[in-house]
Amino acid sequence: MNTKEILSHLGSGGLTAFNTDTVPGIFAAYNDRAAADKITALKKSARGRTYQVFICDLGQLDLLGIKSGKEEIRKFLPGKFSVLLETKLRMPHIVKDGKISIRMMSSGLLKKVLNERGPLLATSFNESGKAFPRNYGKFSKEIMICEDLKVISRSPSTLIDIKKYGYDILRPGSGDIGATGAMTVIGSDHAGLEMKSEVKETLHKYSIIVTDVGTFNGDSVDYPDIAHIVGKAVQKKKFPYGILICGTGIGMSIAVNRFKGVRGALCHNENFARLARMHNDANVLVLSGRFLDKKILDPLISTFFFTSFEAGRHAARIKKIEKV
Ligand code: RB5
Repeated sequence: MNTKEILSHLGSGGLTAFNTDTVPGIFAAYNDRAAADKITALKKSARGRTYQVFICDLGQLDLLGIKSGKEEIRKFLPGKFSVLLETKLRMPHIVKDGKISIRMMSSGLLKKVLNERGPLLATSFNESGKAFPRNYGKFSKEIMICEDLKVISRSPSTLIDIKKYGYDILRPGSGDIGATGAMTVIGSDHAGLEMKSEVKETLHKYSIIVTDVGTFNGDSVDYPDIAHIVGKAVQKKKFPYGILICGTGIGMSIAVNRFKGVRGALCHNENFARLARMHNDANVLVLSGRFLDKKILDPLISTFFFTSFEAGRHAARIKKIEKV
């Protein structure tokens, strides 16, 4: 399909479909509210939802009223990430809580179109909650299919919110969370949520950057799901350390210690934290969200992060742990 036709279709409020580096998407001009409503109807999505915006270079952020965060997002874009950035725009179809979710394409037909037309609002090309269609032909009356559509990766982009203490991974996906470059990855279930925000404040005080993999609200979740994300990330050395919090800390300890090479230590005070580092070379700190006095968090956390492994006789013992 030639670019001129695509641009004129977009210019007259039309919907288009392109490949991305993850899943095929439906695209329209970013400031076209009516086009966004058409997509909502076609996808059978909830009314009033917001759409993310694709750009092809950081210069296009100016058009979107985005001033801060430009340096920070170079870590993630272009790449399989969507990054939430603060905007001054008031466009409810692309702005939620003062932020726009930004993706960047650096190759392909979509990049060419973005370059000529400017930012485009977007969503995945499937009905809400349903699989990607085998044949996109039946949509071609409403949507201009601009190329042969393919699912490159089934998981969507990784959605990141940049915070003062580090990063929140709001949706895990194809983008590698290790790209945040944080010192530690943290996760909790609902019972550890409140304690987690105190822990993040303490880490921030000591300039220890943290990547939070959830949970982010009080809805009940299963602690193994979170322990597995943190355990895998530490095992693969995406982060040198991890922190896990559940009600007692026991469930998280059991679950994370299933990962070879991961040494999770449930610590109740500063002395536990010191010895967990000196003798056990613990790489995951586990805390109780329900039974730990918040007043001891500061010495506990700082001791864990600023104490070294003694090695020597302890190194041989740690080697033995793995021989089961
Ligand atoms: C959740 O109620 C609770 O069981 C969990 O947070 C944890 O304490 C498990 O060990």
